[in-house]
Amino acid sequence: MSDKVTLEFKGNKYDFPIVEGTEKEQAIDIKTLRSATGLTTIDPGYKNTGSCESAITFLDGEKGILRYRGYSIEELAEKADFLEVAYLLIFGELPNKDQLAKFHSDIKKESHVDEEMKKILDGFPKSAHPMGVLSSLTSALIAFNPSSVNVTSENDMYHAIVRILAKFPVLVAWTLRKKKGLPLDYGDDSLGYVENIHKMMFKRPSEDYKSNKIVIDALDKLLILHADHEQNCSTSTVRIVGSSHAGLFASLSAGISALWGPLHGGANQAVLEMLEAIEADGGDTKKYMAKAKDKNDPFRLMGFGHRVYKNFDPRAKIIKVAADEVLNDLGIDDPILDIAKGLEKEALEDPYFVDRKLYPNVDFYSGIIYRALGIPTEMFTVMFALGRLPGWIAQWREMRLNNEPIGRPRQVYVGENHRSFVDVNKR
Ligand code: CMC
Repeated sequence: MSDKVTLEFKGNKYDFPIVEGTEKEQAIDIKTLRSATGLTTIDPGYKNTGSCESAITFLDGEKGILRYRGYSIEELAEKADFLEVAYLLIFGELPNKDQLAKFHSDIKKESHVDEEMKKILDGFPKSAHPMGVLSSLTSALIAFNPSSVNVTSENDMYHAIVRILAKFPVLVAWTLRKKKGLPLDYGDDSLGYVENIHKMMFKRPSEDYKSNKIVIDALDKLLILHADHEQNCSTSTVRIVGSSHAGLFASLSAGISALWGPLHGGANQAVLEMLEAIEADGGDTKKYMAKAKDKNDPFRLMGFGHRVYKNFDPRAKIIKVAADEVLNDLGIDDPILDIAKGLEKEALEDPYFVDRKLYPNVDFYSGIIYRALGIPTEMFTVMFALGRLPGWIAQWREMRLNNEPIGRPRQVYVGENHRSFVDVNKR
């Protein structure tokens, strides 16, 4: 007989089955809890709640393991390129040469963005935060691609996916170019997927685009490391918005907004601003360590801590090495990197951080590489969104193919009991 958990409540006993994943994680299946017992559960921040069964990403926070579709993040970051990883995440298997070539060619055919979209971009002030612009433009894309996706048709699904993988990088590039006051640029079909994104972002009007292998390899690696992270805040947002059968683009736009926050994807911008502030303040890392530990001070050491990783974030290890390599290869000596390393060393020896299992996360060193690649600080979270796009798509597709019910949590009401209305003159 399979495992179960027995709950005793008001003299009655109720059995709930245990669900076991392929990596032997176990969860109590409480689907019948309310109908059987009248009880619900309460779990703010969903720290103990599994929202779905998923076959996309496995992570073990205690052991510091992260795998996409079974492949380790270390191996993918070293050997794969971003487009291969996108295909893997979305369709479940690494593509062979023909599949990859077709995927890329289908994406290229969809890479135009309606010229009318430029008018919408024009309406934003230059000072607008790129994440707000990106989220709005992604929503606006719906108006230019209004047909809803028939999720029972593999063909329809495939075309929606290819369309967004083609158009989203154009929006990312336009967001940056608007900020910098550069004319909007289009891609070049002769370039690789990531190389083309780089070209669309940085090509200067008066010069031919010159690709730099160090830069493209670093970008590929960063995008791969950010590509999926199971049921995090933005991914859960994408799934829950999509669960109402809102379309793919609408779900993605909501995911971008969720990612923007400094406790999530916005941390990469916050880390760099923090490191710059420490540098401007004389580089006194101890002062900021003390602030981070002071419970009366809202300051947190940005880029430290993670909801799931309580040992180390495997992505941070890869990025730390990459930051050293990229800066070295590009001949950049950035004092910010030294401050980051100093902070990390102090934190890893400090009982406050050790006891709470707070380690550098993916965002701690990524901003240093983005900065070395010439990407403005306000664009860092946009780069995260670009990397996370295939993960969001994969999770949305899985949720729709599994025909998951609409996401609708319950609550425990703690407000006033019933009371009678009091006329405004008598209050
Ligand atoms: N600096 C100082 N103290 C911290 C930090 C930090 N960065 N992170 C957590 N703590 C403390 C927190 O005050 C609490 O202390 P106590 O037990 O005394 O009340 C304890 O550690 C547990 O923190 P928590 O907020 O309950 O943990 P959580 O799992 O809810 O939050 C987190 C995880 C990532 C939101 C949090 O660690 C944090 O705010 N980190 C800084 C922001 C950041 O780097 N975010 C990027 C996350 S990785 C990329 C991504 O998800 O997008």
